[in-house]
Amino acid sequence: MTNTVVRYEPRGAAAELFRARDPELCIVGAAGTGKSLACLYRMHLIAIQNPQFRGLIVRKTAVSLTSTTLVTFKKKVVAEAVAAGVVRWYGGSQQEAAGYYYENGAVINVGGMDKPEKIMSSEYDLVFADEATELTVDDWEAIGTRLRNGGLSWQQQMAAANPGHPTHWLKLRADEGKLRMLTSVHRDNPRFVNADGTLTSDGVAYMAKLDALTGVRRLRLREGKWAAAEGLIYEEWDPTTHLVDKSVIQPGWTRWLVIDFGFTNPFCAQWWAEDGDGRLYLYREIYKTKTLVEDHARHILSIVAPGGKWIEPKPRAVICDHDAEDRATLERHLGMSTSAASKTVKDGIQATQARLRPAGDGRPRLFICQDALVERDAALVEAKRPTCTVEEITGYIWDAQPGKQPKEAPVKADDHGMDTMRYMVAERDLGGRPSMRWLT
Ligand SMILES: Nc1ncnc2c1ncn2[C@@H]1O[C@H](COP(=O)(O)OP(=O)(O)OP(=O)(O)O)[C@@H](O)[C@H]1O
Ligand SMILES: [Mg+2]
Repeated sequence: MTNTVVRYEPRGAAAELFRARDPELCIVGAAGTGKSLACLYRMHLIAIQNPQFRGLIVRKTAVSLTSTTLVTFKKKVVAEAVAAGVVRWYGGSQQEAAGYYYENGAVINVGGMDKPEKIMSSEYDLVFADEATELTVDDWEAIGTRLRNGGLSWQQQMAAANPGHPTHWLKLRADEGKLRMLTSVHRDNPRFVNADGTLTSDGVAYMAKLDALTGVRRLRLREGKWAAAEGLIYEEWDPTTHLVDKSVIQPGWTRWLVIDFGFTNPFCAQWWAEDGDGRLYLYREIYKTKTLVEDHARHILSIVAPGGKWIEPKPRAVICDHDAEDRATLERHLGMSTSAASKTVKDGIQATQARLRPAGDGRPRLFICQDALVERDAALVEAKRPTCTVEEITGYIWDAQPGKQPKEAPVKADDHGMDTMRYMVAERDLGGRPSMRWLT
């Protein structure tokens, strides 16, 4: 079977990755430098050459793995081997993890840390964690305990990531010398940069998108720097505390639907559940550009009331941004009335900050569920813009332009989920609807 042709030229950090035997390794860099592809090819080549090999490809959640990393693996890495019958996909069972099974006996399992039982019951030689900044250090160390298969003479935990906050555990682990960090740059990627350093035509288009980014997203995704946003509004946000599994939502909890209209900018619809103690959980979200309000309304109904029958509690209120025409269209197509959001910014932000801080019982009052997003907007992915509320939080900053009062107003960019979330909090914490009335 080793006559399967593999067409892949690793360069720079990717070539170094292929040689590395360090027990913990992370390839880090700006967007599109070829990190994921390098790790995936390495996995595949080792599987082809080692019949006893068992590998694991993992991400924070199974859904995110399937929609990103595994698409690349399937289309760009194993497509020919699958067509030749050398590799077979197995979808898994109650007990067994899904994975790619090689004719020679090697196996690459796949899974998310949100459902650890299946993947953590096996032992591996090599693990690849994609987008590793999403993992907690506990996830990483738990994965490490599974590295003892003995199918290779060495074992390794390999990760790929864009840089995050300068004090992220992954960066600190590298600084402490426990993990080796390889820095991947755009010239390592032959799709975007020619051997002489000039950009390919794909590279010109891709870099133009990265050049259009601003703030901390630009520093991390364009320049590959471990950077913190200056003047971050939600400093209290900590994904290890505030990001929770959807299974926490109980059927009896009160529901709210909150909507911020947009067409060129994303339309954002957030479903919130409220527990008996008044804590709020964002459990579902539509975040999408270039779609008519009536189509959004149909989509919303197809989720909550497929075939006309509600499958979850109806929201106590549908809270909306004020655009009269959009509200009228939404009401007509949803068959529900809506109420106008309280849109004052400064007190809304303060109330949201207060909810993010741990209360007397040590728990915050606002959470976001992992994989709340219904469907990722391909245009936003392409443009490297935030694709959901969570992705806005770490770039949401105070406007510090000369002449502005400090901490008075946020920068008005990539703030659609932020506005929507604030309307939800205002509804519960700021009391009283705005006096503005909406007339048909
Ligand atoms: N050595 C290579 N040869 C040909 N194409 C490559 C190579 N490396 C990467 N690419 C292509 O470049 C694009 C970006 O690669 P990849 O997704 O691996 O980047 P990444 O660094 O993981 O990006 P992100 O930071 O967004 O996760 C993909 O289309 C990939 O197929
Ligand atoms: Mg990647």
